[in-house]
Amino acid sequence: MPAAPSRGGTAALARDEAMAAPSSTTAQNLLEMRGLTKTFGAVRALDGFTATVEKGEFVTVVGPSGCGKSTLFNIVAGLEEPDAGGAMRFEGKSVHAAELLGRVSFMPQRDLLLPWRTVIDNAILAMEVEGTPRRQARALAEKMLPEFGLAGFGAQYPHQLSGGMRQRVALMRTFLFKRDLMLLDEPFGALDALTRTMMQRWLLDVWQQHQRTILFITHDVDEALFLGDRVLVMSARPGKVKLEQKVDLPRPRPAELVISPDFIRLKRTLLEAIEEEAMKSFTSEGK
Ligand SMILES: Nc1ncnc2c1ncn2[C@@H]1O[C@H](COP(=O)(O)OP(=O)(O)OP(=O)(O)O)[C@@H](O)[C@H]1O
Ligand SMILES: [Mg+2]
Repeated sequence: MPAAPSRGGTAALARDEAMAAPSSTTAQNLLEMRGLTKTFGAVRALDGFTATVEKGEFVTVVGPSGCGKSTLFNIVAGLEEPDAGGAMRFEGKSVHAAELLGRVSFMPQRDLLLPWRTVIDNAILAMEVEGTPRRQARALAEKMLPEFGLAGFGAQYPHQLSGGMRQRVALMRTFLFKRDLMLLDEPFGALDALTRTMMQRWLLDVWQQHQRTILFITHDVDEALFLGDRVLVMSARPGKVKLEQKVDLPRPRPAELVISPDFIRLKRTLLEAIEEEAMKSFTSEGK
């Protein structure tokens, strides 16, 4: 049974780490977030968010709408600076948010496919911005099409694709921008339940193949549990970690896992925490 990349670390991963990491870095944590706070005018979006992400881990984040999940990702992607007082470490080194720009791959919440670009040219966008020659980037993307269920669709435009295919193009772009840490903000949020389930299983396969570290936002508790090594439940705004739940379910995870007693037990714990927060955020709406 193939182990998740985080478990024990494969020889290849260990070798890559040894080559990439400075000798002083021994920690397994790829990312550490300590006391991250973010205020927009009168609105405090985040308030002391603290969590770590290990190399190779798949960490999912759930929380009520407006609790600061996308704000957190914007900070980790280097697009927003947190308020003073918080701290982050990446690959064992203390960093400001701005220093993370370009060092993580980020799939934002909104579908950002450009309608005038083909599948291939959308997929290579981040690589192009980074300066990879277009021909080289296109060749890499072409090779990846079958794995992303897009064989034969490279020359199509976004409007010619199904919702699931569009999401796979966006994911392919995120994977092609090769960074250890991937931030995925509700990538399957707009999909119907069946497509979503298929995409989840597919994503786990791709994740295991590519050995990346993933931080994944979702509203869906089943999705958070099915995918994650750990689930972070956020409080209502201002967001912080309310509950950190380890998901000690074996991998690879079969579809029927979601009806197993272990899964349902974990789901109950998460639902209790989330519902409490969702009620708080609902009753404070507009305040
Ligand atoms: N650039 C901004 N300027 C002002 N307020 C902002 C900005 N970005 C986010 N906010 C506010 O911060 C709060 C958190 O927003 P955020 O988008 O992070 O929530 P979220 O948890 O991702 O919500 P959802 O689940 O609906 O996507 C909201 O009240 C939002 O209005
Ligand atoms: Mg959001």
